[in-house]
Amino acid sequence: MKKLMVTTLFGLAAVLVVAVSGGRDAVGQNSAAPANPLPVSLAKFYPPENRAPVYYLAMHELAMPFSGVMADVMEQDMANARAGYEKFKEQYVRVAAMVPEWQALFPLQPVDDLGTALASGDPGKIMASGDAVGRVCHQCHLTATAPAQQVYRWDKFGDIAVPDPLSKRDVDFAMLMRMMEGNFAGIAGDLQQGQVENARMAFQGFDARFQAMAGTCELCHETERRYFVDPDIAAARKQLGEALNGASIDPAATGKLMETIGRESCAKCHLVHVPAAYAQQVFGRGGH
Ligand code: HEC
Ligand code: HEC
Ligand code: HEC
Repeated sequence: MKKLMVTTLFGLAAVLVVAVSGGRDAVGQNSAAPANPLPVSLAKFYPPENRAPVYYLAMHELAMPFSGVMADVMEQDMANARAGYEKFKEQYVRVAAMVPEWQALFPLQPVDDLGTALASGDPGKIMASGDAVGRVCHQCHLTATAPAQQVYRWDKFGDIAVPDPLSKRDVDFAMLMRMMEGNFAGIAGDLQQGQVENARMAFQGFDARFQAMAGTCELCHETERRYFVDPDIAAARKQLGEALNGASIDPAATGKLMETIGRESCAKCHLVHVPAAYAQQVFGRGGH
């Protein structure tokens, strides 16, 4: 039953993906998708259109004077708080103008109120108006940060070409996944049908494609990965191969090994990487 759940889960993922790509119109926008939280003019502040993640850097240059002001207030250093405020306001106005579609999400009133409060020197008023500015920041972050990170700060799964060990063709990452899933599901299906030789072949295909997938980690990660493709998973794959090649096959044992691979490798890696990969397809202006 659990084994079945693992495979139907991936079947469902594939169906969803087909449904999503089928809903795209000529310009790559997906008519059935949620409204894109990322305005078009944000793209020019990130690679590949820009050399650096300029918008991200601008945000840090906005946060620094803001936090500095509030820290100075805590230290009752009002002179530096007021000087820092001028820098903050300047940067706020500059960042607000970067993305015209977001201009209204940077209201000037709360920032002016903070200036008035700082001039009054009243700590209660300063803290309250500082909080109000913080809410402006947070309100936008709630909906915009995650998709911006996924689309512009993650490497693109869509850009990866993997040499498929079976067909000897370069395929994209999602295609490799679908073919590996086919092999993986094939092992269980063939065993159920009593086709042991086919199950062994499906395993060979699965194992080769799993290794091809494991070779993609280094395209995005500089350090060796410990999860999803680690020695425990390698051991489970090896045992699965051995169990399938034995004189008699114990379906409970092979089922358990496949469940381990499905749960510890496929499913957990999907929890980490699929949200970004899908956000890139839905919000990334047709792949970018
Ligand atoms: C790198 C971690 C990672 C591992 C490990 C992994 N996957 Fe995936 N998988 C992904 C990502 C990322 C996507 C989305 C790819 C895309 O759409 O660009 C995906 C998508 C899929 C899909 C949907 C394909 C589609 O049409 O988009 C299936 C099916 C799938 N994986 C099966 C598996 C199976 C079976 C395993 C384990 C044997 C597995 N995956 C292991 C990362 C992983
Ligand atoms: C209209 C939307 C919007 C508003 C308003 C906004 N931000 Fe941001 N901010 C973003 C987006 C989008 C990101 C994600 C950028 C990225 O990761 O590339 C971000 C990221 C950040 C980060 C980086 C967090 C990290 O992951 O390191 C900081 C710091 C930050 N913002 C500070 C502020 C401050 C302070 C304010 C208010 C004074 C503010 N932002 C207002 C959209 C906004
Ligand atoms: C398309 C690029 C891409 C590919 C391919 C990719 N990852 Fe990632 N992965 C990321 C990004 C981006 C993050 C989040 C930030 C980070 O950790 O670099 C991440 C995060 C992770 C994390 C969680 C954070 C950490 O470092 O522990 C793990 C574990 C991980 N990846 C493992 C893998 C493994 C294993 C593979 C290969 C099977 C793989 N990744 C393939 C882009 C990728």
